[in-house]
Amino acid sequence: MAKASIISTGKYLPKRIVTNRDLEKIVDTNDEWIVTRTGIRERRIAAEDESTSDLAAKAIAAALEKAGIKAEELDMIIVATFTPDAYLASTACVVQRTLGAKNAGAVDIAAACTGFVYGLSMASAYIQSGMAKYVAVVGAELITRFLDWQDRSTCVLFGDGAGAAIVGPGNGRHELVDFVLCADGTGWELLSIPAGGSRKPPSRETVDNKEHYLKMAGREIFKFAVSKLEVLLQETARLCDMDVKDIECIVPHQVNNRIFQSCIERLGLRWEQFFINLDKYGNTSAASIPIALEEAVEQGFVKDGSLVTTPGLGAGLTYGTAIIRW
Ligand code: ACO
Repeated sequence: MAKASIISTGKYLPKRIVTNRDLEKIVDTNDEWIVTRTGIRERRIAAEDESTSDLAAKAIAAALEKAGIKAEELDMIIVATFTPDAYLASTACVVQRTLGAKNAGAVDIAAACTGFVYGLSMASAYIQSGMAKYVAVVGAELITRFLDWQDRSTCVLFGDGAGAAIVGPGNGRHELVDFVLCADGTGWELLSIPAGGSRKPPSRETVDNKEHYLKMAGREIFKFAVSKLEVLLQETARLCDMDVKDIECIVPHQVNNRIFQSCIERLGLRWEQFFINLDKYGNTSAASIPIALEEAVEQGFVKDGSLVTTPGLGAGLTYGTAIIRW
Protein backbone atom coordinates (compact mmCIF):
# COMPACT_ATOMS: atom_id res chain seq x y z
CA MET A 1 0.00 0.00 0.00
CA ALA A 2 1.38 3.42 -0.95
CA LYS A 3 2.53 5.50 1.99
CA ALA A 4 1.01 8.91 2.70
CA SER A 5 3.17 12.02 2.30
CA ILE A 6 3.54 15.34 4.06
CA ILE A 7 2.60 17.73 1.25
CA SER A 8 3.54 20.91 3.14
CA THR A 9 4.02 22.39 6.59
CA GLY A 10 3.09 25.72 8.16
CA LYS A 11 3.49 27.44 11.50
CA TYR A 12 2.21 30.38 13.48
CA LEU A 13 3.96 31.98 16.43
CA PRO A 14 2.36 34.85 18.34
CA LYS A 15 4.32 38.10 17.99
CA ARG A 16 4.90 38.85 21.69
CA ILE A 17 8.30 37.61 22.90
CA VAL A 18 8.82 37.12 26.64
CA THR A 19 12.43 36.61 27.69
CA ASN A 20 13.78 34.97 30.83
CA ARG A 21 14.70 38.46 32.05
CA ASP A 22 11.05 39.50 31.65
CA LEU A 23 10.07 36.53 33.85
CA GLU A 24 12.52 37.66 36.53
CA LYS A 25 10.11 40.55 37.12
CA ILE A 26 7.15 38.19 37.67
CA VAL A 27 8.52 35.23 39.67
CA ASP A 28 11.60 34.44 41.76
CA THR A 29 13.74 33.06 38.94
CA ASN A 30 16.69 34.08 36.84
CA ASP A 31 17.97 33.75 33.30
CA GLU A 32 20.94 31.63 34.35
CA TRP A 33 18.77 29.03 36.16
CA ILE A 34 16.35 28.71 33.25
CA VAL A 35 19.07 28.48 30.59
CA THR A 36 21.23 25.96 32.44
CA ARG A 37 18.31 23.76 33.62
CA THR A 38 16.30 23.82 30.39
CA GLY A 39 18.00 25.65 27.47
CA ILE A 40 15.04 28.04 27.11
CA ARG A 41 15.84 31.73 26.52
CA GLU A 42 12.49 33.13 25.41
CA ARG A 43 8.96 32.08 24.52
CA ARG A 44 5.96 33.53 22.67
CA ILE A 45 2.76 34.54 24.41
CA ALA A 46 -0.49 34.92 22.50
CA ALA A 47 -2.36 38.22 22.37
CA GLU A 48 -5.41 38.60 24.61
CA ASP A 49 -7.80 38.38 21.68
CA GLU A 50 -6.22 35.18 20.31
CA SER A 51 -7.43 31.69 21.15
CA THR A 52 -6.05 28.26 20.25
CA SER A 53 -8.25 27.96 17.16
CA ASP A 54 -6.81 31.24 15.81
CA LEU A 55 -3.27 29.90 16.13
CA ALA A 56 -4.28 26.58 14.56
CA ALA A 57 -6.12 28.17 11.64
CA LYS A 58 -3.16 30.43 10.82
CA ALA A 59 -0.72 27.50 10.81
CA ILE A 60 -3.00 25.42 8.54
CA ALA A 61 -3.60 28.41 6.24
CA ALA A 62 0.18 28.83 5.85
CA ALA A 63 0.56 25.13 4.98
CA LEU A 64 -2.35 25.22 2.50
CA GLU A 65 -0.88 28.23 0.76
CA LYS A 66 2.48 26.52 0.35
CA ALA A 67 0.82 23.42 -1.05
CA GLY A 68 -1.46 25.36 -3.40
CA ILE A 69 -4.44 23.49 -1.91
CA LYS A 70 -7.74 25.22 -1.10
CA ALA A 71 -9.41 24.85 2.30
CA GLU A 72 -12.45 23.34 0.53
CA GLU A 73 -10.25 20.45 -0.63
CA LEU A 74 -9.57 19.27 2.93
CA ASP A 75 -11.38 16.08 3.92
CA MET A 76 -10.44 16.18 7.60
CA ILE A 77 -9.00 18.58 10.18
CA ILE A 78 -7.29 17.03 13.21
CA VAL A 79 -6.37 19.41 16.02
CA ALA A 80 -4.00 18.10 18.69
CA THR A 81 -4.21 20.25 21.80
CA PHE A 82 -4.57 20.17 25.57
CA THR A 83 -5.54 23.83 25.64
CA PRO A 84 -8.72 23.88 23.53
CA ASP A 85 -10.84 27.00 22.95
CA ALA A 86 -13.46 25.31 25.16
CA TYR A 87 -14.44 21.80 26.27
CA LEU A 88 -17.48 22.05 24.01
CA ALA A 89 -17.44 22.45 20.98
CA SER A 90 -14.18 21.14 19.57
CA THR A 91 -11.43 23.53 18.55
CA ALA A 92 -11.28 21.69 15.21
CA CYS A 93 -14.84 22.77 14.38
CA VAL A 94 -13.97 26.41 15.07
CA VAL A 95 -10.89 26.03 12.85
CA GLN A 96 -13.05 24.50 10.11
CA ARG A 97 -15.33 27.55 10.22
CA THR A 98 -12.43 30.03 10.30
CA LEU A 99 -10.81 28.41 7.27
CA GLY A 100 -14.07 27.86 5.39
CA ALA A 101 -13.10 24.20 5.00
CA LYS A 102 -16.71 23.25 4.47
CA ASN A 103 -16.06 19.75 3.12
CA ALA A 104 -13.86 18.66 6.01
CA GLY A 105 -14.70 16.57 9.04
CA ALA A 106 -13.18 18.04 12.18
CA VAL A 107 -11.96 16.44 15.39
CA ASP A 108 -9.74 17.23 18.38
CA ILE A 109 -7.38 14.67 19.84
CA ALA A 110 -5.87 14.62 23.32
CA ALA A 111 -2.38 13.19 23.52
CA ALA A 112 -0.60 16.25 24.96
CA CYS A 113 2.94 16.73 23.65
CA THR A 114 2.69 13.55 21.53
CA GLY A 115 -0.54 14.81 19.93
CA PHE A 116 0.96 15.84 16.59
CA VAL A 117 2.57 12.41 16.14
CA TYR A 118 -0.73 10.64 16.94
CA GLY A 119 -2.52 13.04 14.56
CA LEU A 120 -0.08 12.31 11.74
CA SER A 121 -0.62 8.57 12.22
CA MET A 122 -4.39 9.03 11.93
CA ALA A 123 -4.03 11.17 8.82
CA SER A 124 -1.75 8.57 7.30
CA ALA A 125 -4.29 5.80 8.01
CA TYR A 126 -7.19 7.84 6.53
CA ILE A 127 -5.20 8.39 3.36
CA GLN A 128 -3.89 4.85 3.02
CA SER A 129 -7.40 3.44 3.48
CA GLY A 130 -8.79 5.76 0.79
CA MET A 131 -11.11 7.53 3.26
CA ALA A 132 -9.49 10.91 2.65
CA LYS A 133 -7.28 12.68 0.14
CA TYR A 134 -6.07 15.70 2.10
CA VAL A 135 -5.94 15.90 5.89
CA ALA A 136 -4.73 18.91 7.90
CA VAL A 137 -3.01 17.97 11.15
CA VAL A 138 -2.19 20.79 13.53
CA GLY A 139 -0.62 20.92 16.97
CA ALA A 140 -1.85 24.13 18.57
CA GLU A 141 -1.42 25.31 22.14
CA LEU A 142 -2.14 28.37 24.20
CA ILE A 143 -0.53 27.00 27.33
CA THR A 144 0.24 30.34 28.95
CA ARG A 145 -3.47 30.67 29.88
CA PHE A 146 -3.27 27.42 31.89
CA LEU A 147 -0.17 28.25 33.92
CA ASP A 148 0.08 29.36 37.51
CA TRP A 149 2.22 32.47 37.07
CA GLN A 150 3.26 32.22 40.73
CA ASP A 151 4.69 28.71 40.27
CA ARG A 152 8.25 29.18 39.02
CA SER A 153 8.75 25.44 38.52
CA THR A 154 6.24 25.39 35.63
CA CYS A 155 5.60 28.90 34.30
CA VAL A 156 9.11 29.35 32.90
CA LEU A 157 8.93 26.21 30.74
CA PHE A 158 6.11 26.78 28.26
CA GLY A 159 5.08 28.95 25.30
CA ASP A 160 2.26 29.37 22.77
CA GLY A 161 2.25 28.45 19.09
CA ALA A 162 0.94 26.20 16.34
CA GLY A 163 2.45 23.98 13.66
CA ALA A 164 0.60 22.17 10.88
CA ALA A 165 1.08 19.63 8.12
CA ILE A 166 -1.09 18.85 5.13
CA VAL A 167 -0.97 15.09 4.63
CA GLY A 168 -1.93 13.63 1.27
CA PRO A 169 -1.41 10.75 -1.14
CA GLY A 170 2.15 9.43 -1.37
CA ASN A 171 4.21 11.19 -4.00
CA GLY A 172 7.60 9.62 -3.25
CA ARG A 173 8.68 12.63 -1.15
CA HIS A 174 8.32 13.35 2.55
CA GLU A 175 6.79 9.91 3.08
CA LEU A 176 5.34 8.80 6.41
CA VAL A 177 7.24 5.53 6.60
CA ASP A 178 6.22 4.23 10.02
CA PHE A 179 4.96 5.15 13.48
CA VAL A 180 5.65 4.12 17.06
CA LEU A 181 2.70 4.98 19.34
CA CYS A 182 2.76 4.23 23.06
CA ALA A 183 1.12 5.20 26.34
CA ASP A 184 1.58 4.46 30.03
CA GLY A 185 -1.58 5.54 31.84
CA THR A 186 -0.14 4.59 35.22
CA GLY A 187 1.64 7.95 35.17
CA TRP A 188 -1.31 10.18 34.24
CA GLU A 189 -1.22 12.12 37.52
CA LEU A 190 2.41 13.21 37.03
CA LEU A 191 1.38 15.91 34.56
CA SER A 192 -2.20 17.13 34.55
CA ILE A 193 -4.75 19.88 35.00
CA PRO A 194 -6.49 18.30 38.01
CA ALA A 195 -9.89 20.03 37.96
CA GLY A 196 -12.48 21.13 35.44
CA GLY A 197 -13.42 17.70 34.08
CA SER A 198 -15.91 15.07 35.25
CA ARG A 199 -13.54 13.70 37.90
CA LYS A 200 -13.35 17.07 39.65
CA PRO A 201 -15.86 19.55 38.26
CA PRO A 202 -15.12 23.24 38.60
CA SER A 203 -16.11 24.81 41.91
CA ARG A 204 -15.14 27.81 43.97
CA GLU A 205 -12.81 25.49 45.91
CA THR A 206 -11.00 24.18 42.80
CA VAL A 207 -10.48 27.74 41.60
CA ASP A 208 -9.18 28.84 45.02
CA ASN A 209 -6.82 25.83 45.03
CA LYS A 210 -5.54 26.71 41.53
CA GLU A 211 -6.50 23.25 40.30
CA HIS A 212 -7.32 24.52 36.82
CA TYR A 213 -3.65 25.15 36.16
CA LEU A 214 -1.03 22.72 34.89
CA LYS A 215 0.63 20.68 37.65
CA MET A 216 3.79 18.71 37.06
CA ALA A 217 6.04 16.37 39.03
CA GLY A 218 9.19 17.71 37.35
CA ARG A 219 11.73 15.08 38.37
CA GLU A 220 9.48 12.11 37.57
CA ILE A 221 8.62 13.61 34.18
CA PHE A 222 12.32 14.17 33.57
CA LYS A 223 13.09 10.48 34.19
CA PHE A 224 10.14 9.35 32.05
CA ALA A 225 11.25 11.62 29.19
CA VAL A 226 14.86 10.41 29.23
CA SER A 227 13.96 6.72 29.30
CA LYS A 228 11.20 6.91 26.67
CA LEU A 229 13.18 9.14 24.33
CA GLU A 230 15.78 6.42 24.41
CA VAL A 231 13.12 3.77 23.63
CA LEU A 232 11.76 5.79 20.70
CA LEU A 233 15.18 6.27 19.15
CA GLN A 234 16.01 2.59 19.57
CA GLU A 235 12.68 1.64 17.99
CA THR A 236 13.37 4.00 15.07
CA ALA A 237 16.74 2.33 14.55
CA ARG A 238 15.23 -1.17 14.76
CA LEU A 239 12.42 -0.37 12.30
CA CYS A 240 14.87 1.21 9.86
CA ASP A 241 17.47 -1.52 10.36
CA MET A 242 20.20 0.90 11.38
CA ASP A 243 22.21 1.91 14.45
CA VAL A 244 20.87 4.77 16.62
CA LYS A 245 24.14 6.59 15.96
CA ASP A 246 23.27 6.65 12.24
CA ILE A 247 19.82 8.29 12.57
CA GLU A 248 20.36 11.41 10.47
CA CYS A 249 17.72 13.82 11.76
CA ILE A 250 16.12 13.71 15.19
CA VAL A 251 13.44 16.41 15.41
CA PRO A 252 12.23 15.87 18.98
CA HIS A 253 9.49 17.41 21.08
CA GLN A 254 11.25 20.53 22.35
CA VAL A 255 11.23 19.73 26.03
CA ASN A 256 14.56 20.31 27.74
CA ASN A 257 18.22 20.28 26.66
CA ARG A 258 19.22 18.26 29.73
CA ILE A 259 16.82 15.49 28.67
CA PHE A 260 18.52 15.44 25.25
CA GLN A 261 21.95 15.57 26.91
CA SER A 262 21.18 12.51 29.08
CA CYS A 263 19.95 10.58 26.08
CA ILE A 264 23.01 11.57 24.03
CA GLU A 265 25.32 10.35 26.80
CA ARG A 266 23.46 7.09 27.40
CA LEU A 267 23.18 6.12 23.72
CA GLY A 268 26.49 7.57 22.53
CA LEU A 269 24.77 10.02 20.15
CA ARG A 270 25.90 13.44 18.89
CA TRP A 271 24.21 16.83 19.37
CA GLU A 272 24.48 17.28 15.59
CA GLN A 273 21.79 14.59 15.19
CA PHE A 274 19.24 16.77 17.05
CA PHE A 275 17.36 19.82 15.79
CA ILE A 276 16.73 22.18 18.70
CA ASN A 277 14.76 25.43 18.74
CA LEU A 278 13.41 25.44 22.30
CA ASP A 279 15.69 28.36 23.13
CA LYS A 280 13.30 30.55 21.06
CA TYR A 281 9.88 29.09 21.88
CA GLY A 282 10.11 27.01 25.08
CA ASN A 283 7.93 23.93 25.30
CA THR A 284 4.87 24.40 23.07
CA SER A 285 3.55 20.86 23.68
CA ALA A 286 1.71 19.49 20.61
CA ALA A 287 2.93 22.42 18.50
CA SER A 288 6.61 21.86 19.16
CA ILE A 289 7.34 19.03 16.71
CA PRO A 290 5.64 20.56 13.65
CA ILE A 291 7.20 23.99 14.33
CA ALA A 292 10.61 22.34 14.70
CA LEU A 293 10.11 20.21 11.59
CA GLU A 294 9.29 23.26 9.47
CA GLU A 295 12.35 25.15 10.77
CA ALA A 296 14.58 22.08 10.39
CA VAL A 297 13.66 21.95 6.69
CA GLU A 298 13.98 25.74 6.23
CA GLN A 299 17.45 25.71 7.81
CA GLY A 300 18.68 22.76 5.73
CA PHE A 301 19.00 20.39 8.71
CA VAL A 302 16.44 18.10 7.05
CA LYS A 303 17.19 17.64 3.35
CA ASP A 304 15.46 15.75 0.56
CA GLY A 305 16.00 12.05 1.27
CA SER A 306 16.93 12.50 4.97
CA LEU A 307 15.60 9.94 7.43
CA VAL A 308 13.73 11.90 10.12
CA THR A 309 12.31 10.74 13.43
CA THR A 310 10.11 12.98 15.58
CA PRO A 311 10.01 11.57 19.14
CA GLY A 312 7.27 13.07 21.28
CA LEU A 313 6.73 12.63 25.02
CA GLY A 314 4.01 14.03 27.19
CA ALA A 315 1.14 13.89 29.61
CA GLY A 316 -0.89 10.73 29.71
CA LEU A 317 1.81 9.56 29.78
CA THR A 318 2.08 9.33 26.01
CA TYR A 319 5.07 8.84 23.77
CA GLY A 320 5.56 8.11 20.11
CA THR A 321 7.39 9.00 16.94
CA ALA A 322 6.79 9.40 13.23
CA ILE A 323 9.48 8.12 10.91
CA ILE A 324 9.62 10.19 7.73
CA ARG A 325 11.76 9.74 4.61
CA TRP A 326 12.06 13.40 3.64
N1 ACO B 1 13.94 29.45 38.90
C1 ACO B 1 14.79 29.30 39.93
N2 ACO B 1 14.75 28.24 40.75
C2 ACO B 1 13.84 27.28 40.49
C3 ACO B 1 12.93 27.38 39.43
C4 ACO B 1 13.02 28.52 38.62
N3 ACO B 1 12.21 28.71 37.57
N4 ACO B 1 12.15 26.28 39.43
C5 ACO B 1 12.54 25.52 40.46
N5 ACO B 1 13.56 26.13 41.11
C6 ACO B 1 14.28 25.69 42.28
C7 ACO B 1 13.48 24.75 43.14
O1 ACO B 1 12.63 25.45 43.99
C8 ACO B 1 14.57 24.04 43.89
O2 ACO B 1 15.01 24.84 44.92
P1 ACO B 1 15.37 24.21 46.36
O3 ACO B 1 16.53 23.28 46.08
O4 ACO B 1 15.73 25.39 47.17
O5 ACO B 1 14.16 23.49 46.80
C9 ACO B 1 15.69 23.94 42.87
O6 ACO B 1 15.41 24.94 41.87
C10 ACO B 1 15.78 22.59 42.20
O7 ACO B 1 14.48 22.21 41.82
P2 ACO B 1 14.21 20.90 41.05
O8 ACO B 1 12.75 20.77 40.76
O9 ACO B 1 14.88 19.77 41.75
O10 ACO B 1 14.98 21.24 39.73
P3 ACO B 1 15.40 20.28 38.58
O11 ACO B 1 16.85 20.31 38.45
O12 ACO B 1 14.68 18.97 38.71
O13 ACO B 1 14.79 21.05 37.34
C11 ACO B 1 12.91 21.02 35.87
C12 ACO B 1 13.40 21.32 37.27
C13 ACO B 1 13.63 21.92 34.88
C14 ACO B 1 11.41 21.30 35.81
C15 ACO B 1 13.21 19.55 35.60
O14 ACO B 1 12.66 18.72 36.58
C16 ACO B 1 12.71 19.13 34.27
O15 ACO B 1 13.23 19.53 33.26
N6 ACO B 1 11.71 18.25 34.25
C17 ACO B 1 11.13 17.84 33.01
C18 ACO B 1 9.84 18.49 32.99
C19 ACO B 1 9.52 19.21 31.74
O16 ACO B 1 10.29 19.77 31.01
N7 ACO B 1 8.23 19.18 31.51
C20 ACO B 1 7.66 19.80 30.42
C21 ACO B 1 6.33 19.25 30.18
S1 ACO B 1 6.39 17.55 29.96
C22 ACO B 1 6.77 17.27 28.47
O17 ACO B 1 6.68 18.10 27.59
C23 ACO B 1 7.22 15.90 28.22
